[in-house]
Parts: sequence; C-alpha cells; structure tokens
Amino acid sequence: MPRAHITLDKQAVVAPVRRRTFGSFVEHLGRCIYTGIYEPEHPSANEDGFRMDVVELVRELGSTTIRYPGGNFVSGFRWEDSVGPREKRPVRRDLAWHSLESNQVGLDEFARWLKLTGSELMLAVNVATRGILPALDLLEYANHPSGTALSDLRVANGTPEPHNVRMWCLGNEMDGPWQTGFMTAEDYGKVAARTAAAMKMADKDLELVVCGSSGSGMPTFGDWERTVLEHSYDHVDYISCHAYYQEHDGDLGSFLASAIDMDYFIDTVVATADHVGYKRRSSKKIDVSFDEWNVWYLKEHQESQEVNSEQVNAEWRHAPRQLEDVYSVADAVVVGNLLMTLLKRSDRVASASLAQLVNVIAPIMTEPGGPAWRQTTFHPFSITSRLAAGEVIRPLIEAPMYTTARYGEAGVVDAVATVDEDRAAVFLVNRDVAQAAQVTVDVRSVGSARVIEAVTLADADVYAKNTLAEPHRVVPKVNPSATLVDGVLSIELPPVSWTAVALR
Ligand code: AHR
Repeated sequence: MPRAHITLDKQAVVAPVRRRTFGSFVEHLGRCIYTGIYEPEHPSANEDGFRMDVVELVRELGSTTIRYPGGNFVSGFRWEDSVGPREKRPVRRDLAWHSLESNQVGLDEFARWLKLTGSELMLAVNVATRGILPALDLLEYANHPSGTALSDLRVANGTPEPHNVRMWCLGNEMDGPWQTGFMTAEDYGKVAARTAAAMKMADKDLELVVCGSSGSGMPTFGDWERTVLEHSYDHVDYISCHAYYQEHDGDLGSFLASAIDMDYFIDTVVATADHVGYKRRSSKKIDVSFDEWNVWYLKEHQESQEVNSEQVNAEWRHAPRQLEDVYSVADAVVVGNLLMTLLKRSDRVASASLAQLVNVIAPIMTEPGGPAWRQTTFHPFSITSRLAAGEVIRPLIEAPMYTTARYGEAGVVDAVATVDEDRAAVFLVNRDVAQAAQVTVDVRSVGSARVIEAVTLADADVYAKNTLAEPHRVVPKVNPSATLVDGVLSIELPPVSWTAVALR
C-alpha cells in the first residue's frame, strides 16, 4: 500500500481563501438557462419562472461569483435584446451554438435569480462583434443608479436598484478561430485596452478581465498573453485562463494528474504577466481569473459535430440538449483536485468559474418537468466551498511518485489545507488507480485536536455515475479510518478518491 506523510505548517500561508475561487458560469447554451435554471411550467417554479429545486442545489453547491451570459455566446449577443417587456424581445440566431435564443431570460431576470442563490454577478461584454459604446451602454444600464437614459430604462423595466456589477470580462476566448469575430493578439490587445480605458472612465473601481488563451495547448499560448498585456496592462486587472480536461484513450493515470497541467498553466501566465509588468516598470500585478475550468469530453463533442455537421446545419432549435456530459467518480476526483490547485494558487488566482452550472458540462442536471440532481462532480466542489476558510496553507507532501504519459512524474497523493481561527480543513486525493494509500498528516502546528468530519468520494467502479434513473448512485461517504492522535491525523484513501477532513 502506498504511504504518504504530509506536514502542515501554519506559517506556510499562501494567501487568504478567496471566496471567488468557488465561482461558476451560466451561458445561454443548450439547456443551461431554458429548462435548466428557468422553466415557468415546472412545479417548483417561482413567479419569475425560476426552478426553485435548482436554486436549492446551487445554494448547496456554494457557488459564489457567476460569470454570464457567455462564453462563445457573448460574441454574437446584443444585450438590449434581453431587457424590457418579454413579449417584445426578439428571437435571434446564436451562431456559436447553432441554436435559437428567445431572450426570455436577460440581465434583470438573471440578477434576480442571483439574489435567490446568494451569488455575485460577473458580466461579459461583447467586444468581438460590437464596440466600445454598447459596452458603455450596458455598464450604464447595469450600474448607474438613475437619472440617465439607460439607468432610467432599467428602472422602468422594473429594477430600481443598480446591479453594481464589479467584475467584467472583455469578451471571451478571442484567440479561438471558433469565436465569432476572433482576432489576432495585436488587434484584440488594442480593442481590450480601449474598451477597458473607456469603462474605467465611467467607474475607475471596476475589475476588468482581459482574455488570455483558450487553453495552454493553443499555438499562440504565451505570445498571446504577452502581446495582449503589452497593450492593455495599465487598464485591466486580471487575465483569464480556460482549461478543460478529459481522459484520453483509457489513460486514467494521466487524467488523474490533470492538476499538474493547471498548475503549469497558472505559473506560465503569471510569469508572462509579471514579465510585461517588469518591462513597464509597473508596480501593479495582474492576477488570474480562471474563468472556465472543468472536465469536458470535448474530443467526443468535436467528433460528433463533424459527423452530424449537415444535420446540425439544417436545424435551428431553442435550447437543444448540448454538452450534457455525465460525470464519473474519476471525473469528480479530477474536479476536486483542480479545485485544490486553484486554492493552492490563491496568491495569484483571484477568481475562478467552474464551467458550467446546470445541464451543460455541469454539476447539476435537470429534466424538463422532472427532477434536478447532483452529478458526481457536485460533491467535491460543494464540500470544498463549505469547508475552506481562513488562509490557504501549502502542505509539505512526501508521497510516492508515478509516471504519466502526458504530464511526467506525478505524486500519488496530492493535498491542500486551509486554516481558520478555530478550525482547519485538509483536502486530499489518491491518484493510484489500484491501491488505497495510507496517509498521515502532522497537524501539530495548526493545533487541531479532533476530527469533525471526514468524507470520501470513491467507488469500486471508478466510472460509476449519477443519472436520472439512479441520481444517488455516487455520494460522499464518511471515512471511518480517520483518527487524530497526538496531533497526527491518520487516514486511508481508497484508490481514485477525493477526501475532505474538517478539524477543530
Ligand atoms: O463552456 C463551454 C464553452 O467553452 C464556452 O462557451 C467557451 O468559452 C469555451 O470554449
């Protein structure tokens, strides 16, 4: 049995836990909005048409900041279509996802929904196919109190209080040829700088996110970040990272080590941003907004798009089933480990968004007229969001290594911890595909004396999933092996598992 020893040093503080790490993402895509969060005919719907069964699950998930309305969708979006009397809102073609957008949910409704879930709004503006003025108009509509044309329009539309949106994304994945209106780094850097400067003339305290690469595998990765920031450094606050992982060709060992790639991605983007900053002799630091991350079986999605391209081209449907990935235990372990990595990098990752929230590569699934349920990936996210508090501690991990085809050497066990005044939490994964790992954690420096909670997500079948027919097939279970004696926590981690231990 592999053995690992972890030491927590209360002094090894990375940064305070940033609540925005537990953000999420809602795009007008597939059934994320329609029959996901919004379904007026559903038995649980409130007066606005929002499914309250989904609201309950989002609260339990613990999503903080929610990015909206896209994603690729935003690059063809006219925000004006989505406000005002619903019966007057136009139906439009969404080129990004080849579907119809009814605009029955827009900014004001979504902001009301966020009040139900207790989350913060993070808005994206369309810099791809629109310009500075529509971005400023949206800012005026959303944030100006009243007494101007667009703020009064918001009031007349039934929202007297401004939405006071703090975080704004300057477009989405502008490096991707799939993006409507994609640009070169030079062109985008200039557009982003001008749009950001204008938005800050309206409100200097806005927090603006410039688009980084769509993934570390993009051919322009690195150069893109450098060029874009050379233009926009003085006007923006964060640069985005997007990363999706999946198991390729049955290589579970590499897949379980995906967090290594995320860590490398963050390192590289931070180094590039700092390089641009040093060259400018700037004292300002640009942090990362990791505003899309998840497991996504993207390769299969792309292949099915190619096979069905003629049929897809002929059909324009409203809220079709798209990207409804069903997640396994292994997927949940990877999601838990990616979230641990985001926590470990809280020094430079200011915000993150699990992509996405409902039905579309999501932790929450729904059936029209039917139930809503938790995917496997729901659990590590919701438990981490609930338990992580205070300061992030980088643990010293002594664990056996294994060799992966994709990411080189990886530790069999990975961990992160958070320490608050009177409590601590340790999050662990065992990446061994066959064997349990025996782990000891020296918590003497933290001063914890008892285990409050120890839960593990694992299954004899690492590909077990939750489905409509069996929504509770995979749930976290109490880990009875957890004991704390003389300041040392001992715990057994099953193969391919994610674990959280809360201490007091
Ligand atoms: O999250 C799904 C899509 O992935 C988003 O719309 C896009 O930004 C990314 O490519």
